[in-house]
Amino acid sequence: MKRIIRTALVMSIGLASTQCNTAQQGSTAPQTETAEQTQTTAAMGRSTADPRMRQFVDSLLSQMTLEEKIGQLNLVSVGFDVTGPVVSENVDENIRKGNVGGVFNTYTPVAARKLQEFAVNNTRLKIPLLFGYDVIHGHRTIFPIPLGLSTSWDMDAIERSARIAAEEASADGLNWVFSPMVDIARDARWGRIAEGAGEDPYLGSQVARAMVEGYQGNDLTQYNTVMACVKHFALYGAAEAGRDYNTVDMSMNRMFNEYLPPYKAAIDAGAGSVMTSFNEINGVPATGNRWLFTELLRDQWGFDGMVVTDYTAINEMIAHGVGDEAHVGALALKAGVDMDMVGEVFLKHLKQAVAEGKVTEEEITTAARRILEAKYKLGLFEDPYKYADEQRAKTTIMKPEYRQAAREIARKSMVLLKNEKQVLPLKKTGTIALVGPLAKNQRDLIGNWSGAGDWKQAVSLEQGIRNVADSSIKINYAKGANITDDEQMIQRLNAHGGELQIDKRSSEQMIAEAVKVAKSSDVIVAVVGEAQGMTGEAASRADITLPGKQRELLMALKKTGKPLVVVLMNGRPLALAWEDENADAILETWFAGTEAGNAIADVLFGEYNPSGKLTATFPQVVGQIPLYYNHKNTGRPYNGQLLDKYKSRYMDVTNDPLYPFGYGLSYTTFNYSQPKLSKSTISPSESVEVTVNVQNTGNFDGEEVVQLYVQDVVGTITRPVKELKGFEKISLKKGESKTVTFTIEPEDLKFYNNDLDFVLEPGEFKVYVGTNSRDVKEASFTVTE
Ligand code: BGC
Repeated sequence: MKRIIRTALVMSIGLASTQCNTAQQGSTAPQTETAEQTQTTAAMGRSTADPRMRQFVDSLLSQMTLEEKIGQLNLVSVGFDVTGPVVSENVDENIRKGNVGGVFNTYTPVAARKLQEFAVNNTRLKIPLLFGYDVIHGHRTIFPIPLGLSTSWDMDAIERSARIAAEEASADGLNWVFSPMVDIARDARWGRIAEGAGEDPYLGSQVARAMVEGYQGNDLTQYNTVMACVKHFALYGAAEAGRDYNTVDMSMNRMFNEYLPPYKAAIDAGAGSVMTSFNEINGVPATGNRWLFTELLRDQWGFDGMVVTDYTAINEMIAHGVGDEAHVGALALKAGVDMDMVGEVFLKHLKQAVAEGKVTEEEITTAARRILEAKYKLGLFEDPYKYADEQRAKTTIMKPEYRQAAREIARKSMVLLKNEKQVLPLKKTGTIALVGPLAKNQRDLIGNWSGAGDWKQAVSLEQGIRNVADSSIKINYAKGANITDDEQMIQRLNAHGGELQIDKRSSEQMIAEAVKVAKSSDVIVAVVGEAQGMTGEAASRADITLPGKQRELLMALKKTGKPLVVVLMNGRPLALAWEDENADAILETWFAGTEAGNAIADVLFGEYNPSGKLTATFPQVVGQIPLYYNHKNTGRPYNGQLLDKYKSRYMDVTNDPLYPFGYGLSYTTFNYSQPKLSKSTISPSESVEVTVNVQNTGNFDGEEVVQLYVQDVVGTITRPVKELKGFEKISLKKGESKTVTFTIEPEDLKFYNNDLDFVLEPGEFKVYVGTNSRDVKEASFTVTE
């Protein structure tokens, strides 16, 4: 058994830990920070509150009535989009009365300016509004869905996508984006797995930081930066059975080691706001969870920004069964929530709650202060119209260099899952059978959360092929199948903007036509997958195979004997056992955004050598879920022995994924040397270097994501079989080799034990280096007592 070493940065995060300090912050008189508070803030790398901001906000608050303070806590949906079950009413009247702190779903400089003018000119204190929006993977220029961004493993590219989104959004009337979504997800049935960075806390943390830095830049007051909103705090991705909005129940040890790190990384990167999640945590809905928002987020993590609820999440606590509307409103405020999205519970009940002594005016002042501070940080009091600039919108939105960036980033996100006999890259000449419901599609390419994106601007794969291949190329097209033939599913998708074009011919007819064009072509490119509306919010699927008759289509195409290239467009890991066995090549392209068709064609024809790696495990069958690489060993690990009965295994399928985390092929091949360690024994304060030589042994120049995993072999609590602790994306010319060096710091070896102390336990550590989480080479070192 190892001895536990408590380090300088011990964090004791028990359920009954530190007291709330919000009442103190909320007092209208200027406050001096306690030494402890200053230390926490400094440790988080942020400056302590700006004294000028304090003075300004204090003075404003001192002029505000209780009603006006409550008004600041109200966020209404007004404008072009409906993103939840109810809509805000009487908006003009409410703004005039000072009952609105911010709006979302309104954009364009003209609309935003009009609304802002209305607020500023018609309210007593002329307080400008926040303008929020779901800018998730691009604003007008749409990048790959977040799951796709993450499979690039390229943090500069991800940050660039967020920077461009901020440039466009801030010219288009917006100053606040509801992104990044950093929920760890291990269940491909959950539609929102599309919106995050997959299953890994380390990679998820890097992505969270890159996104926040991309949106916010170094200075929020700049005209071209926007406030990020980290969501959904917390654990939303662990919904039971992958069903959206479902119950979450999790041990503290899993929470701290596996699910919380990306939120923390986003906070440490300075994210200005946090959104609550719909689920419960430890039996208390997140939106009313004081431990989560006050003790953990603010007191322990030092977060000093504003907290907004998710859409009507306060009201939904009634259905969760924790009280009536007045009660859940008080619960949310006391938990540390500042702004009520759409639900208007604060607006309706808080005044009375003060009168009845259920909440204090100080608590309301504190929440109002945080919202006013956000407006101050954004520079809205200096110029309420800085984010609504028609001229800048004209010169910024969808400019050619942004489209070019979208194409480059989309190429990086694609994952080559199979490429037998080097069927890819394709020749730029000859005849291609271009088959499948997504081959000419534009609507689905921009994904599900592409609010202001215009799908008519998206490049279809058919167009992309024409743009990239030789002009002599002949394309024989057949739709082959609908994405789905399920009437109810079609109705539901189309009721929410699915724009699904259903071919009324029988599936036999459609397949026969596809087979015919396949027979007269050199190669088949079958473009199959999901409709965008089958992914994202409220879009869980219990069956994650290709929907509709698409597999039947592939089966018929296979029988032609022609080389079969499957191009996938989808928003989640799919169960593709048949496709993996039968297709010659499979390219996962997700929903790749505005430039999807060009980017896919670049990859298909070898203009770009694929370099993406999966960030979420692909199972063989849905019944294996949750399936993730950083699992525990169990007391009876399966050893591959067929007749060994009493092991942790299934009767009907192996434990292996179809494609593991970190997996992705290239047109070239890479050879890894045995990893070398700088030391075989280190003290708990030392670091160790791991070097590995990687050689490009194939026939193409290419990029490789070199991955480093660590295993803590013996712990006071059980530890995962391996955990990602480093990666580097390198570029290697044909024949070239490079040495990659990783430094494992003591922090990388620590974890939260069952007392929630962040500890490094001496003993043996294994190091794995390789091209994915499965195919690795091993070394080990010891940490002494
Ligand atoms: C979603 C959030 C989103 C919000 C505003 C909610 O339904 O869960 O992710 O930001 O709506 O549109």
